Order: sequence, then C-alpha cells, then structure tokens
Amino acid sequence: MALNLTEKECAPGGDAGRGSWGSSFGFIMAAAGSAVGLGNIWGFPMQVGKGGGAVFVLLYLVCVVFVCFPILVAELALGRASARDPIGAFQVTRPGTPWWLAGALGVTAGVGILSFYSVIAGWTLAYVWYSFTGAAGQNPGAFFVAFVADGGKNVLLSFGVLVITAAIILGGVRQGIEKAAKVMMPALFLLLVLLGVRALFLPGAAEGLAYYLKPDFSEIANISVLNAALGQAFFSLSLGMGAMITYGSYLSKKTNGVKSAGWVAGLDTCVALLAGFVIFPAGFSIVGFNPAEGGPGLIFAVLPSLFAAMPGGALFGVAFFVLLSLAALTSAISLLEVPTAALVDRGWCRRKAVLLMAGLVALMAVPSVLSQGAVSWLTKVPGTGMDFLSLMATVWNNWALPIGGLLISVFVGWVWGADKAVAELQAEGNSFPGARLWVFLIRYVSPLAILFVIIMTARGMYAG
Ligand code: PHE
Repeated sequence: MALNLTEKECAPGGDAGRGSWGSSFGFIMAAAGSAVGLGNIWGFPMQVGKGGGAVFVLLYLVCVVFVCFPILVAELALGRASARDPIGAFQVTRPGTPWWLAGALGVTAGVGILSFYSVIAGWTLAYVWYSFTGAAGQNPGAFFVAFVADGGKNVLLSFGVLVITAAIILGGVRQGIEKAAKVMMPALFLLLVLLGVRALFLPGAAEGLAYYLKPDFSEIANISVLNAALGQAFFSLSLGMGAMITYGSYLSKKTNGVKSAGWVAGLDTCVALLAGFVIFPAGFSIVGFNPAEGGPGLIFAVLPSLFAAMPGGALFGVAFFVLLSLAALTSAISLLEVPTAALVDRGWCRRKAVLLMAGLVALMAVPSVLSQGAVSWLTKVPGTGMDFLSLMATVWNNWALPIGGLLISVFVGWVWGADKAVAELQAEGNSFPGARLWVFLIRYVSPLAILFVIIMTARGMYAG
C-alpha cells in the first residue's frame, strides 16, 4: 500500500510530482486509517452520553447514510479529478471564482481540529503507561481529573504527539505507517469485540445496553442533539475539510471509488458502534455512573475499571491504549497532511510546511490542555458554559465541518456538476450502482439537511 509521493524538496528545482496509492486495498486502509480514530472510540460514546443514548445513535446513523456517505463519494471524485490539495481542487475545476475559499475553510479546520485532537491523543499515550502500572484502576474518575489538571505534563504529551506526527509526515515513512495500519486496524477491531463480550457479562450491562439501544423518542426533535449527531458523523468520517479530497487526489483511476467509500464508511461505523458496546455496559456497572456527565473524560474514567475487573487486565489495557494511540496517529497524520499539502501545492518545500503547521497547531493546543483544570477561566469559557477543549470540538466539528460539507455538496452537485463526478467515478469501466440516487442525494438531500440543521441550531442559540 505504498503511497509513492515524490515530495518536493527544499532545494530549488525539486520535483513536485504526485503519486498514487499502491492498490485499492491500500487506499481503503489509508482512508479508513484517517476515519477510524479518537472520533470513534472517544468521541462517539461521549456524544451518545451527552445526546441521551439511543436517540443519538439513530440520528447518527441517518446522518451517515443520507448526508455524509454521498459527501464522501463527492470528495473522492473531486480529489481524483483534480489531483490537487483541497484549495487547488476548487481552483482547477472552477478557476477564477471564490470557490477556493471552501477549500481554505477545510484547511483551517484541519489545523483547528488537530489542536484539540493532539491533546486527547496525548491522554491516550499516557494511559498506555497508566494501564501498565495499574495507577488508573483504583478510582479512575478521580485519577483522570487529577491527571488532566496537570498542565505541564499534558503540554508535553500533546507536543510529543505532534512531534511524532510531524516526523512521520516529514520522514516519508508512510509506507511504514500504512503497513502498520494493515495489522493494527484488524487488531483494534478484534480487541474491541473481545472487550465488548467481557463488558456484556458485567453487572449493570443490561441497563447499559438499554440506554444504548432503546431510543427515547421524546428527544428526537431536539435540534442540538441532531446538530451534534451531524457534526460527529462528519468528524468520524473525516469529511467536510478536504482530508478525503486530498486522499482521493492520490487515487488511481482503476480503483472503484464508490465501493471503496462503502468500505471506509462501513468500517468506521462498525468501530464506533462497537465502542458503544464496550463503554455503556461497562459504564453502567460502575455505581453512580451518569453517561451525560462523562464529558471528554468518559472513556478514561470507564475503561480502567473494566480492565481492573478482567484477568490479565493490565495487558488488555496496554494493548487497547497502544492500538488507540496508533489509530489516533493515522488520523492526526491526515489532519496535518491537509494544511501541509495546501502549502506544498503553493510552492513551499515540504519540510518548512510541516514545521510551520505543526508549530502553529502546538501553540493552539496549549489553551485546550490548560482548560482541563489547570486554568479556571478556560475550564468554563465565559458565555459558553464549556471548557475550551469542548468549545473547540463544537466549533470545528458541529459548525466548520457541516458548513464545509454543505459547500462541497453544492459545488459537486451543482457547480462542478454531478454528471462530471459520475463520469469520473465510472472511468475505466468502474461500476457506480445507484448513481442516480447519489445525484439526488448530493444535490438535494445532503445540502438541504445540513442547511436545515445549521439554521435551526443557530435559531435555537439565538432564542436561548
Ligand atoms: N476521523 C478522525 C477520527 O474519527 C478525525 C479526523 C477528522 C481526521 C477530520 C481527519 C479529518 O478520529
């Protein structure tokens, strides 16, 4: 699954040629590596908890199928047709228009998302160690609160994550990462299934399952839950900011883009659903557990007690957090790749581009770190009722990504042209079953649904 990029060197006259994924399987693994990450295992259960359980799950699935999947196909088609970074993709297909701003919004979102993503990835990394020592197992909730309040330690951890991410992108060891992803993704999957089975036999599991699977329909019209479900679907599938445009730009015409998109969305959704089968049964086995109060610390407060209850739990704990760190890393790479590609395609050398962007993200990560207890006004940002990290997640995931997705769907459906996208996806005799349905979804359903959610959410906020 080699990505054969000839990277532009800093020396003048460097070659900025583009490469392609080694195989369809390689592409699927790399794109699934971007999609599967903290969003599935950290974000999804947290949002289910905030959104009141099964209703959120239902709304999430509706958003994935009817809004996000069509956009995934659109991003891949646009990327492959233009063979450019997200800004360039709009410039090439509609030169001389302001549409490139949609790409620029995505590039900005990449930086913004990575600024809090690296903080949580830092927690995951630290929990490899804490699972090994068993330190978190006694009183996981209190342990987590004390751990994240240590600003110095967490600044170092998130910087560490960014250094590793930057080093991988710089060193061009994608092949290494992608090879690792081939082993790591199935391993993560298996481990989740195993943990889910164990969690099902804990006391309180039935209550957890009911919470997770039995919707309370009185919540279904709650617009903030719908907004969160939409944002979560975009975030989890790495959509709305051009990550999939960028990955699509390395796609060979021989690969069936629609089928690959199906695999990526299917795998991503399975991992998220599976994470819920671990967290909720395990959570409800803890006395006094309230999923709505879990916040960003939910999985860190729940999982250590699951591991403590298992024979060989330290081993499971270490394995789990190692795999989660790696899954976070493959996503962080795609987040940093977008702003990097944007600079490289504008003539920057790759090394300078990576260093500048990683440095910028590191600076922006500091307030997110300090918002977890170290600095009080960041712990509850005035006027928002949220800590700074959660505020970042809301701004980028619930607003920037859906707005980006709206622009992409309007652009592909109406401006560049749905017929051009279909022709692109059918190149080299590839089949596109349901092409007509897709055209309908991308032109009408996706944009109108997103517009509806954005307008209703804004109205609710204004009224509230
Ligand atoms: N999809 C990743 C996750 O679920 C996060 C991500 C978002 C990556 C946007 C790239 C772009 O963890």
